[in-house]
Amino acid sequence: MRGKFVVFEGCEGSGKSTQLKLLSEYLTNSGADFIMTREPGGSEISEEIRKIILNGKNTAMCDECEALLYAAARIQHLKEKVAPALEAGKLVVCDRYIYSSLAYQGHARGLGEDFIESINKAAVCNYPADITVFLDISPTEAFKRKHGADKDDRMEQLGLAFHERVYAGYKALMAKHTDICAVYCGGSKYETAENVKNLLKEKEIIK
Ligand code: TYD
Repeated sequence: MRGKFVVFEGCEGSGKSTQLKLLSEYLTNSGADFIMTREPGGSEISEEIRKIILNGKNTAMCDECEALLYAAARIQHLKEKVAPALEAGKLVVCDRYIYSSLAYQGHARGLGEDFIESINKAAVCNYPADITVFLDISPTEAFKRKHGADKDDRMEQLGLAFHERVYAGYKALMAKHTDICAVYCGGSKYETAENVKNLLKEKEIIK
């Protein structure tokens, strides 16, 4: 039987990495058969594409190129790593997936959901996530918590207004797609981890 596919989404500074680390510890301790991976990246070729996308020097990159590079990294990672693990019955936990492209490139960059869906069809048609956990915190609150944006990261440098559009994009997606479950993450990391774990148990994704 195909394994479950869990995706984590959120704005910059939402604490995704911390939550994924805590979930990974829990899954290891409970003996789950799982892999944890990330986008953009997660496989050798996709990590190369990631470097091009996030390189702060690539200021001339147009929005369409950015969206296509994320889609290219996604399909390579999916075919090389995610799909084989799911077919082997493993639980796959992935840091970001198609909703990132819809929120960042579709909404915040203004390319529109139709364009993003069309270039990602090959990936998402066959392997939709079973559940997407959205770590919910506004960019204003998040940047305050992490004391500003990372100077070397092209995406983080786009400014608060851009990241507020990303956040609004996620909210619009949530209104349409019931597989996205929001978990408020403005409290302590342990509180959030507990809420994430309970949600995944409730949905019978983890034990
Ligand atoms: P990363 O350092 O992994 O950021 P985070 O820790 O916030 O996940 O960099 C990923 C960046 O790429 C992040 O700014 C979100 C952005 N992104 C998109 O714009 N579109 C996408 O489809 C994906 C997967 C990520």
